[in-house]
Amino acid sequence: CHFTWDLHKEDVIVETLEERILDHIKFVKECNITDYNILSYVCHLKNSNEEGLRNLQKAEEAIQEHHPGEIARRSLVTWGNYAWIYYHMQRYEEAQTYVSKVENSCKKLSGTALGKIQLPEVCAEQGWALLLFGEKYYERAKNCFENALKSEPDNPEFNAGYAIAMFRLEGCARWNNEEMWSCLEALKRAVELNPNNTTLLALLALELQRLERGTEGERYIEEGLQKTPDFPGFLRYAASFYRKKREVDKAVNILKKSLALTPNSVTVHHQLGLCYKSKILQLKKERNPPREEFENLIERAIFHLKTVIKKDPLFFTVYNDLGLIYSLGKRYEEAEEIFQKVLHRNDIPCVDKQLIYLNYGKFQHFHMKSESKAIEYYMEGLKMEKDSYGRKLCSEAVEKLLKQKTESGLGHATDFGTLGLVHKLNGKKQEAIECYQKAIALDPNNQEYLNALAELQLSISS
Ligand SMILES: *[C@@H]1O[C@H](CO)[C@@H](O)[C@H](O)[C@H]1NC(C)=O
Ligand SMILES: *[C@@H]1O[C@H](CO)[C@@H](O)[C@H](O)[C@H]1NC(C)=O
Ligand SMILES: *[C@@H]1O[C@H](CO)[C@@H](O)[C@H](O)[C@H]1NC(C)=O
Repeated sequence: CHFTWDLHKEDVIVETLEERILDHIKFVKECNITDYNILSYVCHLKNSNEEGLRNLQKAEEAIQEHHPGEIARRSLVTWGNYAWIYYHMQRYEEAQTYVSKVENSCKKLSGTALGKIQLPEVCAEQGWALLLFGEKYYERAKNCFENALKSEPDNPEFNAGYAIAMFRLEGCARWNNEEMWSCLEALKRAVELNPNNTTLLALLALELQRLERGTEGERYIEEGLQKTPDFPGFLRYAASFYRKKREVDKAVNILKKSLALTPNSVTVHHQLGLCYKSKILQLKKERNPPREEFENLIERAIFHLKTVIKKDPLFFTVYNDLGLIYSLGKRYEEAEEIFQKVLHRNDIPCVDKQLIYLNYGKFQHFHMKSESKAIEYYMEGLKMEKDSYGRKLCSEAVEKLLKQKTESGLGHATDFGTLGLVHKLNGKKQEAIECYQKAIALDPNNQEYLNALAELQLSISS
């Protein structure tokens, strides 16, 4: 059950997760057992064990309604959570009662005295829980659904979970074509098995768009808009589709409708922020952008992005967007403040941190006009060794800047030295050697350059 699935409180904002699950319960037509089970765990995380128990009761009612013939099999997770919550409340007798219920069911279901059993429904439920705990958990979620599918390859729900996990994983990493292809196949199959689920339909459309087959994808979005014009879980993806297609006004209209339905949704606020950001960037290209409209868009973007950070301070890429909007509005102090807030955190995944260095570097470069600080921060991103999109962009940005300086004939020793380090970090040893030689020509006694050069020459000759 949830208490043994390694779901850590520090990876989520408990109140925000709770709101998200409540929204799901409110709008989804399917039975709510899984939602109530995880909700009981979330209640425990926020120290409301009583409320947790009430949600488990709702789960039990839903089980009785939807699976009257399979109570024991369908209740294992619910009973497990009961046992743990009673245990944490130091109500040990009640805890023991539920432990016994689980034990007896497992023995009966497995037909063995030990009662060891792995049920595909339980694997899938673990998968859904993992998906709610964020990026770090997606790979494990995918494995859970894969396991469940081994026993029931045609189960619609397991196929849906598997496809969603694949899609989310793909959004985090830059996959190769083969992996994108298998994600597309998984989504097609999930849609086929869940013909009424427009959330899956929207994901399929977004995947086609990623694969530059947007026209085909749009047909599914239109179909979804017909079938479920008021389902927030679909609408936010539809909006994302139109934003990426650069029909930003259409996206904004859909999102306004979504916001009315789910005013607490972090995703909706984020999407709105991104829409206003792209309208601002569009307007900036005009020669004389209308001032009032420009300011208005800046205000709106700031409002929605700030809401996202307030609700989910762990959504690290949003700090970059907000920093950019402040800079575009020439509100440099606030931009600086938001970047500092995130630069000082030490709990940020590498890939996000590299993007933050990139964006702060750009802020210093293009808005504060400080090349030296820009170089410093681009280098920080590049020095983090994990290969990522952000690291690549940091590398390109700093290389371009340094080359401009060194090729202009005004380069200092440090410019050549830093460019040498860029090449070295990118594994280009010969170019690195040439740069260090030039740096040493300008600053013959610099021990750092001499050491770096010696080390490089040694590694080439051996
Ligand atoms: C899920 O819960 C909501 C809110 O309590 C309820 O309106 C809905 O009917 C439930 N769904 C099912 C299928 O029971
Ligand atoms: C899909 O929805 C239609 C119309 O609401 C319904 O008749 C049909 O049974 C549903 N199909 C499935 C597989 O749930
Ligand atoms: C589609 O299925 C997923 C997974 O069960 C669920 O979260 C989502 O709300 C469903 N969407 C619709 C429109 O029923």
